[in-house]
Amino acid sequence: MNRLQCLIFFTALLFSATAADASRCANDGYDIVRNISEVEQGSFGRFGLSHATLAGAVLHGLKEVEVWFTTVAPGVGTPIHRHSSEEVFVILKGSGTLYIGSSANSDQDHPGTPQEYPVFANSTFHVAGGVVHQVRNTNEHEDLQCLVAISRPPMKMFMYKDWFTPHTAAKMVFPMFWDERCYEPEETKDEL
Ligand SMILES: *[C@@H]1O[C@H](CO)[C@@H](O)[C@H](O)[C@H]1NC(C)=O
Ligand SMILES: *[C@@H]1O[C@H](CO)[C@@H](O)[C@H](O)[C@H]1NC(C)=O
Repeated sequence: MNRLQCLIFFTALLFSATAADASRCANDGYDIVRNISEVEQGSFGRFGLSHATLAGAVLHGLKEVEVWFTTVAPGVGTPIHRHSSEEVFVILKGSGTLYIGSSANSDQDHPGTPQEYPVFANSTFHVAGGVVHQVRNTNEHEDLQCLVAISRPPMKMFMYKDWFTPHTAAKMVFPMFWDERCYEPEETKDEL
């Protein structure tokens, strides 16, 4: 390669890398109508998870609502957790179990033994803000796939070790695993 070819090659490389990053993170680098099969999915370091953010705060600048497309393998589930966002699930495939403990605003200082509800394809349920819950794929034979809508993104999640962990000892996760790469705190934007 001569120097000019070399320069063109590396400039092209630089631009293709920038374009790829932009489509992952930039607020305006996405198609208006998106094919779910082509939306980037990942496990984000979580065993048995495949997650895609269909529309959300960090990727698309939404302020009121965020929608996820989530698939979990048999035996896998969400952590025991709560958040102030309201949450709606629509089960698309498979089946599992919803566990509901007490709300962090109740008199009890920990979630307590949860109520259990079977969930199935074409079922829907919602979880109010502050209620400690978990959704698990308890079907040994099939993946559990759902659409999840949350209010007021980006979500701040509080994770419990078990149902007897005090509400005050729940561990905060923010940003969410899938937002880590693209999340920019408000403050750093203003520094420029
Ligand atoms: C959506 O993407 C999938 C996988 O790439 C493809 O097979 C399908 O044809 C696409 N659908 C449309 C309507 O483009
Ligand atoms: C889900 O329910 C709707 C409304 O009854 C029905 O049309 C649809 O076929 C159902 N889908 C599945 C997968 O059962």
